[in-house]
Amino acid sequence: GPAASTNTTEVSHAVTTEERFSANGHKGGVLWLTGLSGAGKSTLAMALERALFDRGWQVFVLDGDNVRNGLNAGLGFSPEDRAENIRRVAETAKLFADAGVLVIASLISPLQADRARARAIGGDRFHEVYVSADLATCETRDPKGLYKKARAGEIAEFTGISAPYEAPESPELTIDTGALAPTEALGELLDYVDTAFGKT
Ligand code: PPS
Repeated sequence: GPAASTNTTEVSHAVTTEERFSANGHKGGVLWLTGLSGAGKSTLAMALERALFDRGWQVFVLDGDNVRNGLNAGLGFSPEDRAENIRRVAETAKLFADAGVLVIASLISPLQADRARARAIGGDRFHEVYVSADLATCETRDPKGLYKKARAGEIAEFTGISAPYEAPESPELTIDTGALAPTEALGELLDYVDTAFGKT
């Protein structure tokens, strides 16, 4: 509640975000990947991280599966817990972005309202990417066997099966992994990142 933030004042940094961007040769920001389990978010996020690192970029992936082991340990998959998971990652991503890093956030983030809050936290350096593949495609891939378990009733509130996924209405970019080969999908992301965060 409000009591928690009483008696605090914002302290100014001695190094500006613009100075950091200039030193890095690119802007910091948040590339927010949303999509169903199995749509290819993590694979694309990690391939993009590799490619940008190899070009000398300051880049880091915040992946839902990974942060749920640490920062967000203890959060489950109820709507409330997902909202808190997404909020914490959005705040963390903003800190990284202010530090000059390009953050690739990879979370299902199934609800429009939660993504809107993440965007509000990230401000104008937040870019939403819809990693799109139909449920049938994701379920056929089923890389972790989770859809099979969800169909068997062994996982409650599984996105796409027993919990909703609201597709983004106006993402900055859509990557259709059902139609594109992985290298093509990576190429589209790299082009987008160059335009959005590259040196101008
Ligand atoms: S969310 O909705 O944004 O908070 O989810 P996220 O943090 O991205 O975590 C998704 C990964 O958690 C695993 N998992 C589940 N996903 C969806 N629904 C349920 N009930 C669930 N239980 C566990 C699953 O491995 C997800 O990883 P990805 O990479 O998306 O397949």
